[in-house]
Amino acid sequence: MAELTRREFLLIGTAGGAVVAVGVILPLSQLAKDQPEAVAGSTTTTTTATSPPTTAAPAAVVGVFPRVRVASLGEVNATDPITFDYPLQGQRNVLVKLGVPASAGVGPDQDIVAYSSLCTHMGCVVEEYRPEHRALGPCPCHFSTFDLANDGMVSLGQATQNLPRVLLEIEADDVYATGVVRLVYGFANTLQGADSVEVS
Ligand code: FES
Repeated sequence: MAELTRREFLLIGTAGGAVVAVGVILPLSQLAKDQPEAVAGSTTTTTTATSPPTTAAPAAVVGVFPRVRVASLGEVNATDPITFDYPLQGQRNVLVKLGVPASAGVGPDQDIVAYSSLCTHMGCVVEEYRPEHRALGPCPCHFSTFDLANDGMVSLGQATQNLPRVLLEIEADDVYATGVVRLVYGFANTLQGADSVEVS
């Protein structure tokens, strides 16, 4: 056989590498074809002698938040927060007009927001609102304070988590609560553990 030049050797080597690469890919794609297809909602699983046993995924907990009228736009002002329970009785929240646009703000000035009043440290009710700092707090228990212009972020104190934020919608001249982002302190599920508030 004629002696190979270095260039010929490299070219053949490259082609051989491609074959090897394809050889790796094909069995994997074939393996994928051999797997049983998942069927939404099905509880049946298929195993073969070579398949590891499968474990059913835990069912997701799904709930639907009520849509509840909280106040009219004319009632919301920059100095007097409106308190309301939502979505369950005892889950106290505060509705405020910040006076500056907020990322989750609603209303003509995009500055109306609502947050849980239950402190994320140990659940004390935080009632004091300081409009000059757009801050809820200090908490009467251990002085945590939350920045309502920045997604309820902790600005001072023992708490380490943002306040849960109430989702709001405007319809005509009314403000509605439609959901809650993040878990309310003391509840494993924001929709369970107490009676629902009355839907209006
Ligand atoms: S319960 Fe609010 S800071 Fe501790």
